[in-house]
Amino acid sequence: MVFPMLDLQERKKLSRLAEKNETPFFALSLERLKANEKKFLKELHSFFPKAQACYSVKTNPLPQVLKALGTGFELASLEELEAVKSKKVFKVFNGCCKREKELKEALKQEAIIIMDSFSELEKLIMLKKKLGLKKLEVGVRLNVESKFGIELREIPKFLASAEQQGLKVILLHAHPGAGKSLQEYRQFLQKVKKALPLHSWKFVDLGSGFPSFARLAEQNVSLQQYFQLVKEELGTTLLAEHESKGKELGTTFIFEPGRILVADAMFLVCKLHCLKELNNEKIAILDAGINVLQRIVLENFQFTPLIESNGAKSVVRLAGPLLFGNDWLGTTNSNLQEKDLIVVENVGAYCHSLAWGVSYKKPEVFLV
Ligand SMILES: Cc1ncc(COP(=O)(O)O)c(C=O)c1O
Repeated sequence: MVFPMLDLQERKKLSRLAEKNETPFFALSLERLKANEKKFLKELHSFFPKAQACYSVKTNPLPQVLKALGTGFELASLEELEAVKSKKVFKVFNGCCKREKELKEALKQEAIIIMDSFSELEKLIMLKKKLGLKKLEVGVRLNVESKFGIELREIPKFLASAEQQGLKVILLHAHPGAGKSLQEYRQFLQKVKKALPLHSWKFVDLGSGFPSFARLAEQNVSLQQYFQLVKEELGTTLLAEHESKGKELGTTFIFEPGRILVADAMFLVCKLHCLKELNNEKIAILDAGINVLQRIVLENFQFTPLIESNGAKSVVRLAGPLLFGNDWLGTTNSNLQEKDLIVVENVGAYCHSLAWGVSYKKPEVFLV
């Protein structure tokens, strides 16, 4: 596996943090976060110079993350809107359960509201009347998976209803779901393509679906290959990003990266408390388990001792501290001893927000 491994400097910083703080704890590397952002934007703008990136706040809404990023934001709740209130950047407000107070805050922050259903459209029309708004520009989510959005065949009806009520639909949104392969991503784009001739879209928001940089490296795939697919499947249809005599023509793409920006920018440092042997298997019990490292995060967590000791390595099965029989984390091939510190890589996406409060509190976050 090819992972962007922890370098020596990072290991030293984590060791210093571990001297002063109790494990388990998270360590956020703003350097890695900024480097990921730079890399993502560089690749994006080399394909689509005017494309807009809106970081998907739910992935990791820590204030330090939101402050460090220079992108726009994709938001899904009042809490997320509140968290980026002070940032005057490009915002889209998404979700399938928008409440009136959220719609009001989104309007206040001039976020483009993405409609998920006819029911929401009606509610927004009522709110527009109530607030006496003359014009309002909105988006619509195309159903490509799960419970989200509006079916392709219903889009013309949606557009007609919206326009009849004085709403201008300027944005088409779709999201393929998490961590898509190139083949799945092409299939997603082909679904989106069918909605393009239905309207003159000012923005086409393609959500995310990009695997983390760690996963891309592991699979020997590049981010460019994803953008190349967008260009092949949609670029020419839309004349996207083309300019004529200084006047903008065509459509601007929006992307909503989440895990690709944050997954490998955060580490978890935990401690090995107990080594035992059960049924001919070596087992190491750590002080963080599935309460912090949940499978639904869909990342490949990487476990290594913070300080690798010499001596014979052996395969050890890692388990967490919970009194749950399924609290297994993975395996490592190392020379492990009790009291060793173990670093878990790729925990920046969702792990902190999803951490349970069962038996133990959420680990603290430090900057590294
Ligand atoms: C609408 C939308 N956009 C963007 C994202 C971010 O996706 P990822 O973390 O896979 O980049 C999500 C994640 O669920 C999402 O629901």
